[in-house]
Amino acid sequence: MSDNFPIIVKVPLGSRSYDIVIGPGLLVDLGHWLDPVIGDGKVHIVTDETVFDLYKSRLYALERAISVTVLPVGEAQKSFETLQQVLDDMFEQGLDRNDTLLAFGGGVIGDLTGFAASVYKRGCQFVQVPTTLLAQVDSSVGGKTAINVPAGKNLVGAFYQPKIVIADVDVLSTLPDRELKAGYAEVLKYGLLGDIEFFNWLEDQGENVLALNSEALSQAVATSCRTKANIVAADERERGQRALLNLGHTFGHALEAEAGYGSDLLHGEAVSAGMAMAFEFSVRQGLCDENASDQIKTHLSKTGLTSISDVSQWLRDPDRLLKHMMQDKKNEGGALTLILARAIGDAFIDKGVDQTEVKTYLAHLAKTYA
Ligand code: NAD
Ligand code: GLY
Repeated sequence: MSDNFPIIVKVPLGSRSYDIVIGPGLLVDLGHWLDPVIGDGKVHIVTDETVFDLYKSRLYALERAISVTVLPVGEAQKSFETLQQVLDDMFEQGLDRNDTLLAFGGGVIGDLTGFAASVYKRGCQFVQVPTTLLAQVDSSVGGKTAINVPAGKNLVGAFYQPKIVIADVDVLSTLPDRELKAGYAEVLKYGLLGDIEFFNWLEDQGENVLALNSEALSQAVATSCRTKANIVAADERERGQRALLNLGHTFGHALEAEAGYGSDLLHGEAVSAGMAMAFEFSVRQGLCDENASDQIKTHLSKTGLTSISDVSQWLRDPDRLLKHMMQDKKNEGGALTLILARAIGDAFIDKGVDQTEVKTYLAHLAKTYA
């Protein structure tokens, strides 16, 4: 491992503070990172079939008592049924609160496992070992855990922080390219919402990140995690500024709802197009210079990310899209909240967006991309 690695980013939350350890080669000696943090209890690992097949030898190399729940792949696992299965497996193993539940996988595994940890005997130790880029820069950090219910995605859950996050960038080499790009959209988000220098760095280094250059990838994950850690430290329960992390997500969720939350449109792909829409809408509102929006579109095209034209099939019905947007958790008292921007690196929360203006914009998109 080079002298520059690992990079350690702290999430400062008082007695619940923890480290995010980032770099290549960390799975080779997972115990080295885990042991000082979790003590010598048992470890129960939750993972999915794909990741388990690829990395089981690494997991079994842990020199301690481990047990494993291996789940099918996919968003459908964020359910009450699977939560029950994980809890049953934990009871069967006789785990107590000082034992550890370890999430080894992408955001689906992390969200479900974190929620299971939060309710098992009113809360047991929890560790995140994220294996997708999206999970390394977003879902494993900050303590949001959840499952889906018929009323909507992520509507049942808890804020429950892990004891440590271990992000080995080497595991991203087996990630399908589409998933890698979906994760890169969340990396780009951190530049767009509050850090123009990071955006400029991505303009220069983005292609190296996507080519899995260890140095560039580790720096990109670390900068993303640093931004998220600062926002979470200031507003853990999303009473205010944490909502900035939803840049592009309200437009994106509406697209995901239209696409049916399946593999036709991944979450990160929807966020990628959604961020372009948030900037385009900000330009139409006279908030932001058109150059900023054009620069983002050029970056999406240069890095092969999802742009607005790629989601045209889900832009056909402006009324339905607006209806989806009105169901967003950020909205209060019937008013539409959106994350808009004054410039690249200068996003803000607008709690009273004019719905008619949004509908006019959505109708414009439907016509443009028909
Ligand atoms: P995912 O967990 O479904 O993983 C995507 C796919 O990649 C799966 O097929 C998985 O098997 C595969 N995979 C994972 N790691 C791999 C590897 N190293 N090599 C090969 N294949 C690998 O999806 P995701 O994009 O990681 O996460 C999406 C979920 O995250 C959604 O449920 C979303 O709601 C949630 N999320 C949560 C937060 C949060 O703050 N808690 C933030 C963003 C997203
Ligand atoms: N992914 C948004 C958040 O963690 O708040």
